[in-house]
Amino acid sequence: MEAYALEWLNLLVRWLHMIVGIAWIGASFYFIWLDNHLEPPQHDGDVKRGVGGELWAVHGGGFYRAEKFRSRPPAMPANLHWFKWEAYWTWLSGFALLVIVYYVGADLYLIDRAVAELSRTAAIAIGIGSIAGGWIIYDLLCKSPLARNDKALSGVLFLLLCLAAWAYTQVFGGRGAYMHFGAMLGTIMVANVAMVIIPAHKEMVRAAAAGRDPDPKFGAAGKQRSVHNTYFTLPVLFVMMSNHYAFTYGHRYNWALLIALSLAGALIRVWFVDRHKGKQSPLTLIAAGVLLALVAWAGLPSPRDESANAPADFTRVQTVIAQRCASCHADKPTQAGIAAAPKGVVLETAAQIRAQAAVIAQQTVATRVMPPGNLTGMTDEERALIAHWVAQPQTQ
Ligand code: HEC
Repeated sequence: MEAYALEWLNLLVRWLHMIVGIAWIGASFYFIWLDNHLEPPQHDGDVKRGVGGELWAVHGGGFYRAEKFRSRPPAMPANLHWFKWEAYWTWLSGFALLVIVYYVGADLYLIDRAVAELSRTAAIAIGIGSIAGGWIIYDLLCKSPLARNDKALSGVLFLLLCLAAWAYTQVFGGRGAYMHFGAMLGTIMVANVAMVIIPAHKEMVRAAAAGRDPDPKFGAAGKQRSVHNTYFTLPVLFVMMSNHYAFTYGHRYNWALLIALSLAGALIRVWFVDRHKGKQSPLTLIAAGVLLALVAWAGLPSPRDESANAPADFTRVQTVIAQRCASCHADKPTQAGIAAAPKGVVLETAAQIRAQAAVIAQQTVATRVMPPGNLTGMTDEERALIAHWVAQPQTQ
């Protein structure tokens, strides 16, 4: 009952997380697109009113005209819309989901004793500490003299993020490592909104109300953080769906794949932003494509072991599956925290096991993500047995 209730909570929070995440990233993509497509105002009157750029659009059954003011509107409007709660709710729901999936289920999804022998408390402390620490280090760097040089700052940030990707895979199982990398980036993005971008907007509004020019230091910092957020978006979105792709986080060099995929995502975003401005370079897309191809190549399943001619003993395979898998993958799982057979994969009868031979091998041999965190203590000999069994023609 408790596990079932937790699954429901998981569903609701995940649903919320997606809705607010789409609202946030959607608005953010829209405003970047808008900013990059503005045209000089057509009418002198508009120029005199302080309009610096305008844009016409048709959408949802109406024509829209957006205007961007060079500094401030002649009079402050009665209603000014801010875009911040989408970001805050994305973080709140994301953090709740992190707790529900990775901290309540730390033994399953966070701790992998083959990677590091961590207690639950230690694992959760490392998780939360690293997310907070990531923001503190990032924020200090952005305020340091290094930040005067955009290229140098980006280079240092990139190296530190590579280090974080690697470090996470040295303490957590692949799935938890990836999710923490994404959560750290996502936290930086939301903190950028809350601590830098919104304060910059508040200063703009204060200045406009007082009829003075805003303090330029707010605007410059806000701009810098918005640019970072843009390029973090695609890597974060990849991480948020990475739990569906065990061939990434379950790979031996999962940290290298994470870096390559994140960089590919950032480059694709660079290309789109450049395209808005009409100056995209095919080289950016080619570089992203090469990175994706490299990841695909690295993840290729290894060829079957043809030497395995002696038939594997299927009753032994059945025993292994019964001992290592069936506590979760059963019609009525006995494992605490598992309400129903995960992903509908039931491995109880001989027919069920034979029918799912390929996915069993994929999960236990190719990526080794099952059993999660090797909770049931599957041995290397048992994995070799599965590999051997799958390699022979499935005649019986
Ligand atoms: C402690 C519980 C547990 C044990 C033990 C366990 N699994 Fe799983 N298994 C899960 C969970 C949870 C998922 C769903 C993972 C996800 O959300 O992607 C899963 C998913 C799977 C999937 C579906 C993967 C997909 O992406 O569709 C297969 C196949 C699988 N497990 C096979 C096995 C095999 C084979 C064993 C034994 C060697 C095993 N599992 C042991 C919990 C377990």
